Amino acid sequence: ITAAFQAKTLAGKHVLITAGPTFEPIDPVRGITNLSSGKMGYAIAHAAWEAGAIVTLVSGPTALDTPYGVRRINVQTAQQMHDAVMAQLKQQKQDIFVAVAAVADWKVANVSAQKLKKTGANDTPQLQFAPNPDILASVAAMPNAPYCVGFAAESENLLQYGSAKRQKKNIPLLVGNIGHQTFGKDENELVLFDDHGHTNLPAADKQTLAAQLVAEIALRTSLM
Ligand code: CTP
Ligand code: CA
Repeated sequence: ITAAFQAKTLAGKHVLITAGPTFEPIDPVRGITNLSSGKMGYAIAHAAWEAGAIVTLVSGPTALDTPYGVRRINVQTAQQMHDAVMAQLKQQKQDIFVAVAAVADWKVANVSAQKLKKTGANDTPQLQFAPNPDILASVAAMPNAPYCVGFAAESENLLQYGSAKRQKKNIPLLVGNIGHQTFGKDENELVLFDDHGHTNLPAADKQTLAAQLVAEIALRTSLM
């Protein structure tokens, strides 16, 4: 679908999106991250712009170009992603929030200011962890929260976990990735969980799925 032929189903709406992984430092040269190319989130940002939305993308480290027309804010850690999202919401009321980022659930609590050195053969660093803020749950719990869409990549029991996750996060729409072999790939297959149950978006390239998902979001928010 090209912009010229796409219905402007999100005309004038403000859409905020998180995408990519987060990176949690261990020391100045090492860190912990999650598997995420950012392709799905960037495809959704592009599709939302094509649908007429004003799009802000808060992105962890990726190798992708910023989609045309999209405003991008770069972050590394989950805390930075959380703070950037909150700052955007404060600055501009957002109609829709789509959390696609693979956010690290934990950060390293004992980050070393200096590079950790190997001292002996059997000596390994002891990492301690502290929880990161849950960005999606925080946004969903705000008064006048935007319409919140979550993503879930499960390794098993997607139907059961997806539905439970949607209810736990208290969000109207949760999107599940079918299978866990989609990382970095151009193709994907999605399941949409909402109040009425679940429906599938059959396997397609991520740009096609993103346009379909944006259409589904537009349908669900058209009366807002
Ligand atoms: N998410 C978030 N902030 C976090 C963790 C997750 O915004 N700290 C968002 C993700 O962007 C995604 C959704 O929450 O849209 C679900 O993420 P997921 O990791 O599947 O869920 P968790 O609640 O973290 O549960 P778990 O990892 O234990 O399955
Ligand atoms: Ca998680």
